Amino acid sequence: MTESRENWGSKIGLILAMAGNAVGLGNFWRFPYVAASNGGGAFMVPYFFALIVIGIPIMLVEWSIGRYGGKHGHGTLGPMMYIQAKQAMSPKKAIIVGSLCGMIAFAVTILVNSYYNHIIGWSLGFAIHSLLGTYKSDPGAFFGAYVQDPKMLVFWVISLGILATAVMKGIQDGIESWAKIMMPVLYVFGIILGIRALTLGSPINPDWSSLKGLNFVWNPDFSQLSWSSAIAAAGQIFFTLSLGMGIIQNYASYLKPDEDIITASVATVSLNEFAEVVLGGTAVIPIAYAFLGPEGIKGSIGLAFMALPNVFSTMTGGGIFGALWFLLLFFAGITSAIAMYNYLVALLEEDAGIDRKKGAWIVFIGYLIVGAPIALESVLTKSANLMYFTEVDNWIGNYLLIVLGLIEIVVIGWCVKDSALEEMNKGGLWKVPKWFFRLFHQFLTPVTIITFLVFFTRDYWI
Ligand code: PHE
Repeated sequence: MTESRENWGSKIGLILAMAGNAVGLGNFWRFPYVAASNGGGAFMVPYFFALIVIGIPIMLVEWSIGRYGGKHGHGTLGPMMYIQAKQAMSPKKAIIVGSLCGMIAFAVTILVNSYYNHIIGWSLGFAIHSLLGTYKSDPGAFFGAYVQDPKMLVFWVISLGILATAVMKGIQDGIESWAKIMMPVLYVFGIILGIRALTLGSPINPDWSSLKGLNFVWNPDFSQLSWSSAIAAAGQIFFTLSLGMGIIQNYASYLKPDEDIITASVATVSLNEFAEVVLGGTAVIPIAYAFLGPEGIKGSIGLAFMALPNVFSTMTGGGIFGALWFLLLFFAGITSAIAMYNYLVALLEEDAGIDRKKGAWIVFIGYLIVGAPIALESVLTKSANLMYFTEVDNWIGNYLLIVLGLIEIVVIGWCVKDSALEEMNKGGLWKVPKWFFRLFHQFLTPVTIITFLVFFTRDYWI
């Protein structure tokens, strides 16, 4: 085990790495299809509610657990040491709660990576196909053929290799320096696509212009609000902010003990929401709307890979715009997957004494194994309906991330209480006021999560 531990090299590096962690496929691939299938504007109401009431308070909790735990900030030991140090529970109970958190975080990370890395692979493959113009004649059918073709899995394996390379290089030379390049490029690509999207007429129906698509996202239709859109919104907040897994804690564990986590976490949330709501919302949804219209857009998981290529194939310079879009997806996915990869490698390195390089190879092989069912799903069934894939994504996004978030907020708000507030405020330029902690961490955040879960699942148990 190494005694001296790396820290982030600079404030800007830290913020870009954290933004890279949060800004991912969740923002550009998942948000548009989840928002569109939950009523567009109607989804945005619980979405913003969940951002403020659930997302920001839990983000602060995860940053402080990670920073406190340092070398043991992630996994089981982080929460356990935190609880013990604050004398919030008996040592025995702290071990149980810590182990529970550690096991959930580990299991969810593995499950996410069973499908997440495939989408990164598709993005890389589609970026190349955009430049080659391969999907131009029939983009919808192309996606189906692509996922059923075992040769295309090479892009998945290449993506895993890229992740392993970044993580092997360590925190400053790997993660931080990659984020410093990929994140600005991603924003530039997103802004170019957003501007292009807003000037798009519909090739299909004059009534489906992209501006109408914007209206679809920004004009809330309250009659469409439901508990299932509320839970989908809460789940999306967890997904997009990388909460409920262990990867925010892991990145926060490389902070210096007096680093200001309040400013840094607010900066991360803002960069993530800009990417999700402004770029994901104005680039992807309106482009898809222009092609598919109000009904078609309610589509599915393939929205980003079928609807958008359809649009690119009809516009001038579509190959270039297509490549920009898929590279954006690829960079977004890579910088988030690096965070998940590093979390697993850090567990091996610091809790099991396996060196970083060996650990990175172990994770590489582990990912090939857990990713195999999805790799084979379409190849063996000769269909592109991605049923298993969709099921896993639903479980992750609707329940699994929320569970760890709920445990964390109950432990922090109800067991650790005010000493957690002191921990959060250490070194902060701004302080979280006591009333905020009382109102959110102790009351609104847990109550909202429980209410959403209870009402969403009421049919099962009434
Ligand atoms: N937040 C990232 C994303 O939006 C990474 C992530 C994925 C985090 C899945 C949690 C679960 O893609």
